[in-house]
Amino acid sequence: MAETRLIDGKAHAAGLRQHVADAVAALKQAHGFTPGLAVVLVGEDPASQVYVRSKGKQTVEAGMLSFEHKLPATASETELLDLVGELNDDPAVDGILVQFPVPPQINQHRVINTIDPAKDVDGFHPINAGHLWSGEPSLVPCTPFGCVYMLKKELGTLEGAEAVVVGRSNIVGKPLAGLLVQENCTVTIAHSRTRDLPAVARRADILLAAVGKPEMIKGSWIKPGAIVIDVGVNRIALPDGKTKLVGDVAFAEAQGIAGAITPVPGGVGPMTIACLLRNTLIAGCRRRGLPVPKL
Ligand code: GUN
Repeated sequence: MAETRLIDGKAHAAGLRQHVADAVAALKQAHGFTPGLAVVLVGEDPASQVYVRSKGKQTVEAGMLSFEHKLPATASETELLDLVGELNDDPAVDGILVQFPVPPQINQHRVINTIDPAKDVDGFHPINAGHLWSGEPSLVPCTPFGCVYMLKKELGTLEGAEAVVVGRSNIVGKPLAGLLVQENCTVTIAHSRTRDLPAVARRADILLAAVGKPEMIKGSWIKPGAIVIDVGVNRIALPDGKTKLVGDVAFAEAQGIAGAITPVPGGVGPMTIACLLRNTLIAGCRRRGLPVPKL
């Protein structure tokens, strides 16, 4: 049985964060400016609070300015949109991220559409989504970029590879497919209505799972030697009452079949914030007409 290599997302993320920190230090020295990231949290969802804290901490560690804004769970859509408007107008703010999900009285699309596309470090604004598909430089969604970043580090080139993305969300599946096309992969987007999903998955040299269903993708769906990127983060209950995090791929079954796989946790997850810092740096440079460091 061939051994399955683990793709170490923590190490890749640490490398990218260091590149960002070096570029931030160089910018400060050469141009006297420090990029700033504003993160907005509405409500008190515990998982979101952890993410937001982590984003703030890593922003500061990279040498950038961090602005945190908290609104109560009862905040109206107008209150949130007014805050986004203020951040759009604030010259110290280069990137704006509103943590999702937002409470049900607030329309997520309206929030995304209100953020200045030049500060849209999530890459969710339709202008940035359009730029991605038209091959223009853009702020691209963080998790998909993190997947492709790791793949390129692991494989060198992705050119000509059969890539199958399982999942078609606006946040992961669709932009991931766009980035893979840009890397000259042959891309299939599969989803819950795909006929014979196991057979489609088995075509993949690179199989990317972003469905949010615990361990849905079985070992028998993986072509021997394929590279598997597991974007899923699912908390499941164990018989002893404890919980654990698992991905969308049945990790144990993939051993000895996949050529390499990202673990959950410790795979794609750590890349997301590193890519957010990268986007903040890029947005800061663009907004000031400075050359964007290659990262
Ligand atoms: N909630 C979970 N992931 C994300 C993300 O990438 N961006 C935002 N804004 N909210 C999230």
